[in-house]
Amino acid sequence: MAHMSPTASRQPLRYANPAVALHWTIVVLLLTQVWLGFTFADMPRGPARMEFFTWHKTIGATILLLTLIRLGYRLRNPPPPYPVDMPAWRMTAAAWSHRLLYFFLIALPVTGLVAASGTGKSTTPLVGGIPLPTVPGVNESTAELSGGVHEVLVWSTIALLVLHVAAALYEQFVARPGVAYRMPPFRDRDGQPAVIAQGEGSQLNEAD
Ligand code: HEM
Repeated sequence: MAHMSPTASRQPLRYANPAVALHWTIVVLLLTQVWLGFTFADMPRGPARMEFFTWHKTIGATILLLTLIRLGYRLRNPPPPYPVDMPAWRMTAAAWSHRLLYFFLIALPVTGLVAASGTGKSTTPLVGGIPLPTVPGVNESTAELSGGVHEVLVWSTIALLVLHVAAALYEQFVARPGVAYRMPPFRDRDGQPAVIAQGEGSQLNEAD
């Protein structure tokens, strides 16, 4: 994944709208997903639990699809560079925590799908009866192991998200220069309008 070199520009540069829309859509889906997961795990077996589980699988598949689209968009449209006066450790921490977030966003649904693939059936139903293909050749013990990994990933993702949100708030309210404005609706603290510096509609390219 490209890590953009910093820029000397004083103009705040932000992600393009497709990246921003995907970021916040995935946030809403992931929070719903975590709530669904913890809720159905505690429910007694029966139709209500099944219904929650079907929604959990559906939202998981949607998160995976949107994450792959987001990653594809990102690889073709590298994110805007950070300001040159941003300390290198913060740039490195941001780059690696974002890579890890992408990894979790892919690994979580994949381990969930493997966990749901030990039934011997070739598909598993999503909302509206949509058949999601299961992973072939998964036996019961592999499925169980994958379910265990899925659980560990849930807690790791929650821990990383707490860190990510803390970093965003630190960038917005404490750090100088703080770079939270890169992800609208965060705004530049000095009131400067942030310029889109990613993707085809990049105002940066047009101005250059
Ligand atoms: C489900 C929860 C979330 C996930 C999975 C997530 C994931 C990500 C990822 C992967 C990036 C890097 C984007 C890229 O370069 O491609 C990012 C950027 C960002 N996120 Fe989140 N995020 C979440 C929640 C939040 C929340 C709740 C906030 C605010 C409180 C937030 C604020 C930001 C900011 C400010 C950036 C830009 C950082 C930068 O450019 O260095 N995120 N997020």
